[in-house]
Amino acid sequence: MAPLERLRAAGRLDQDVALGPLTTYRLGGPAQYLVTIESEQDLRDAWAVAGDEGLPVLPLGRGSNVVVAESGFAGVVIQPGPGLSRRSIGDEVIAGAGVPLPLLARESARAGRGGLEFFAGIPGSVGGAVRMNAGCHGTETSDVLISARIFDLGSGKAADHTPAELDLAYRRSNIDDSKFVVEARFATVPCEAAESESKIREITRWRRANQPGGTLNAGSVFKNPDGDSAGRIVDSLGLKGLSCGAVSVSERHANFFVAGEGATAQDLHTLVRDVQKRVRDEAGVDLEPEIRFVGDFG
Ligand code: EPU
Repeated sequence: MAPLERLRAAGRLDQDVALGPLTTYRLGGPAQYLVTIESEQDLRDAWAVAGDEGLPVLPLGRGSNVVVAESGFAGVVIQPGPGLSRRSIGDEVIAGAGVPLPLLARESARAGRGGLEFFAGIPGSVGGAVRMNAGCHGTETSDVLISARIFDLGSGKAADHTPAELDLAYRRSNIDDSKFVVEARFATVPCEAAESESKIREITRWRRANQPGGTLNAGSVFKNPDGDSAGRIVDSLGLKGLSCGAVSVSERHANFFVAGEGATAQDLHTLVRDVQKRVRDEAGVDLEPEIRFVGDFG
């Protein structure tokens, strides 16, 4: 059977799928193909479909850092399914790419394994955390990662890699779209469940007080420049409340841009470029977006 038919027969391939609902902003158009990955064979098949049709591939986790253009993504989106959402919690925590980070934090705490509490403050997936070296409250994924199993779509093979091999640094790695995080192993320390759960509650409380929860956003829009905070700089220029269409700079935190009723991905993109230019012109700082824009923007 050809790869496309094999994926379709297994119920793992959809065509013209709205991507907005798969991202936290809930904006943007469709993907030409969406493949739900349950096994390494699915990854080989998805890569073959893309190759046969000359299309790009886009690995997607929980969509908390991705915004898709209204015209959509003419390519193959690959996303971990239930087969890559298993976890085992012990001295080491082993978790599939699709496991939501807050869930992993809570389950580890309940099992008396500490060290992953910071994941409660990151609304992404294990795969995304490895790729972005996600972090908050002074801890990054690289601090707890023992190794990650990375599937190389080009060679069709998977291998385990240490954080050093993945070149993890502040909000970056050497994992590009030709690689797919399958699973990660994290180090934990024994702890009292109640103590770990209380750390998680504190993180949740801090986020509620300092970030615009309950709105459509994708966390920080920009990476922090060396030694400073993008939110502080944008705020210092008086840009809170600045808007384009129905997207505006949050009044609560200037590095969060929130989408209101009727917002478009293009509005968001235009506002990001506008703020970037004002910060460059007025503060002399080049802010690099943390949000990834996919597809064609004007
Ligand atoms: N600040 C302002 N005005 C604002 C926002 C912030 O003056 O509108 C000031 C704060 O008072 C503080 C400083 O800027 O002195 C830093 O702000 P905050 O503590 O909120 O941290 P951040 O640097 O903006 C980073 C991460 C967040 C993470 C928090 C908590 C980045 C780009 N952001 O935010 O990560 O949750 O620390 O650890 O590194 C994300 O990456 O999506 C994200 C939300």
